Amino acid sequence: MTTPTALNQDELKALVGQAALHYVVPGDIVGVGTGSTVNKFIDALASMKDQIRGAVSSSVASTERLKALGIPVFDANDVESLAVYIDGADEIDGHGYMIKGGGAALTREKIVAAMATRFVCIADESKRVQALGRFPVPVEVIPMAAQHIARRFAGLGGSAVLRMREEQPVVTDNGQYLLDVSGLVIQDPLAFESEVNQWPGVVTVGVFAHQKATVCLLGTAQGVVTLAY
Ligand code: A5P
Repeated sequence: MTTPTALNQDELKALVGQAALHYVVPGDIVGVGTGSTVNKFIDALASMKDQIRGAVSSSVASTERLKALGIPVFDANDVESLAVYIDGADEIDGHGYMIKGGGAALTREKIVAAMATRFVCIADESKRVQALGRFPVPVEVIPMAAQHIARRFAGLGGSAVLRMREEQPVVTDNGQYLLDVSGLVIQDPLAFESEVNQWPGVVTVGVFAHQKATVCLLGTAQGVVTLAY
């Protein structure tokens, strides 16, 4: 374990991004997530681009970053399975269950995670929680169902707001809208994910319990701590 002195959040992200290289299998295709922490991983991955076949990416943004660094990006349909998927999280609990989707890429993230044998979560220690739910749960929805789904969350005690940018609804890479749901107490993430996933109009709920992390590389003041679930 390395022992850095007073690293800031950005430096912690770079530390875990670099540490994740250890999980990349030479000669393989690696699953790549989305977000500011993964951007550090992608930058580090460039140093071993000649040792891998390429990547399957979970967003347009990550695809562009990978390609700019000369890392080939495969269509998910052309890849049977992945040994490892590396991605960040908005929250991760003691079981490896996560909230994801703060960067709007949750649906493709869940797809690529489902293709992988191992999910390596990279996160700074601010993401570690006792129980999921302080971070508003992102939910990708079919636009015509947004208000109906918001009312269903109200029935669970949550408050769902449509994610907006410059006074327009945010549109995902898949052409859909996002709700951010606050005020939920998620006591059983597996049951919650299963329940919400089958509501008509829900594309993906940003609770990753069925696709939980196998390992978390947590950036802390004491260095990178490896948590296995
Ligand atoms: C993207 O949709 C998210 O799931 C990200 O993995 C998550 O928001 C973490 O992002 P940061 O690494 O930027 O905090």
